[in-house]
Amino acid sequence: MRRPTAAAAVMAAALTGTGLLTGCGSSSGTGDAKPELSVHSAYMPQPVSATMAAGFLTVENKGDAKDELTSVTSTEAEDVTVHRTSGGVMKEAGPLTVPAHGRLVFRSGGNHLMFDQLKSAPRQGRTVPVELHFAESGTVKVEMPVKSATYNPATGH
Ligand code: CU
Repeated sequence: MRRPTAAAAVMAAALTGTGLLTGCGSSSGTGDAKPELSVHSAYMPQPVSATMAAGFLTVENKGDAKDELTSVTSTEAEDVTVHRTSGGVMKEAGPLTVPAHGRLVFRSGGNHLMFDQLKSAPRQGRTVPVELHFAESGTVKVEMPVKSATYNPATGH
């Protein structure tokens, strides 16, 4: 009778160990569910205008809770707003949700960041510092590389 018990104990220990390693918790409650954000594929097409530019990126959430992008700032621009494109027209978007185990995508023709009153014209090869402010995760800093005006993230050109 001892062997099965010992095996079960080892198994339970192994499972607990896994839970601790990944930090996912045992998901018995919602108390420790947290968003786990990372930012990918950030870029700014070199703008035609000297004072205004668009920016794109993807926010990925590997956590068990959603988060919300409440605002965006940059030391290089007086104002950064979040826009969505609807029927070919740009509109200011409210706080955007990053779903649990999901992503929030900014791409050409869809959601984008709008930089207004830039301090200097962004040039290809340089980066623009951007701070993304989230309701749960706080501030996430991104160095957004400036690409060519016709850059296509799908092809990398
Ligand atoms: Cu816009």
